[in-house]
Amino acid sequence: MSQVQKATNQQDVNRVYFFDTTLRDGEQSPGVSLQTPEKIEIAQNLVRLGVDVIEAGFPAASPGDFEAVKTIAENVKGVIICGLARANKADIERTAEALQGAERSRLHVFIATSDIHLEYKLKKTREEVLAIVKECLALAKGKFDEIEFSAEDASRTDLEYLCEVFSVAIAGGATILNVPDTVGYMTPDEFAYKIRYIKEHVQDIDKAIISVHCHDDLGMANANTLAAIQAGARQVEGTINGLGERAGNVGIEEVTMALKTRQDVYGVTTAIDTKQFTRVSKLVSKLTGMAVPPNKAIVGRNAFAHESGIHQHGMLNNPTTYEIMTPESVGAEKTSIVLGKHSGCHAFESHLETMGFHFTAEKVNDLFVKFKALADRKKEIFDEDILALVIDNIDHV
Ligand code: KIV
Ligand code: ZN
Repeated sequence: MSQVQKATNQQDVNRVYFFDTTLRDGEQSPGVSLQTPEKIEIAQNLVRLGVDVIEAGFPAASPGDFEAVKTIAENVKGVIICGLARANKADIERTAEALQGAERSRLHVFIATSDIHLEYKLKKTREEVLAIVKECLALAKGKFDEIEFSAEDASRTDLEYLCEVFSVAIAGGATILNVPDTVGYMTPDEFAYKIRYIKEHVQDIDKAIISVHCHDDLGMANANTLAAIQAGARQVEGTINGLGERAGNVGIEEVTMALKTRQDVYGVTTAIDTKQFTRVSKLVSKLTGMAVPPNKAIVGRNAFAHESGIHQHGMLNNPTTYEIMTPESVGAEKTSIVLGKHSGCHAFESHLETMGFHFTAEKVNDLFVKFKALADRKKEIFDEDILALVIDNIDHV
């Protein structure tokens, strides 16, 4: 039984499973293209991070993608390896071939279900799509250890029809039902309502786990994912640093740290070793060439930096005044007290002490006035600036 299948057991109802799609949806970020050795390095680090499933790619998309999925399946162990496929025979067979060497293989088969996609993209009726789902699952049977079915654009699909599609998918052998918010259109309440509706109306839903896959077009991917977890979703699909199509997918680091920091609200567990986040984030950023914004939650370089004097004073007395999680818990360097024009005298004095200078209060005040004048002229103050300040004023202090 796979780790994900175990989630349907009673004792695991509070476990949230992480499905990482950095190598598939993440690689769909405009401008990102990874070579197989880089993908292997990322996959190995995702295993260290503790994700449950790695979506290694889309084998039918290109010979390069096939090769990458095959190599990852053969070399990366201790995790479920998944390949994406459209709902057709050629894609499913190509995916089965690529996943042959996997310790545990998962097919991720998808088809769009919203009327807008049916009319303008697939040019098929609802009945025809239902028939395709049935057919492709029959084709996939026996070729993989487990099957995940995704209803693309699920969040804009008529709910009753979506439940009908999911019921057919379960009857066909899918044990993971993914509900993608493909275009990032949901609000948290609305998405939670849909997840609850699915739980109540899909036939044999107990045989499957509900998964969510949120895009961040309105900046609500994390909020929507968390709302879905509260409504009963138990698999989260996301990427490192929130990479992905357009505005990206939900960042695994954000969901995990919200679940951990607000355990009182969510009451669920994960297998993620959160101390790996900073390292994995830097690796993915380096290999993809996608810079992490400095103010990005959890992994941005400023996520644990404090500049305002009021905040710095609080932090020096007790870090919990302005930090809801420790930098160590995500593997980041210690909290940084950044000296700038908003810094206060306490932080300045404490910084002088870390540089080995111990002055009287009067001398510290004198230097502080000069430091403030400098900070008004200069955006960033480095230790060299402080040292110069001390040396320049050594006769006067
Ligand atoms: O966003 C989406 O709908 C997808 C599917 C393939 C799951 O990436
Ligand atoms: Zn997606």
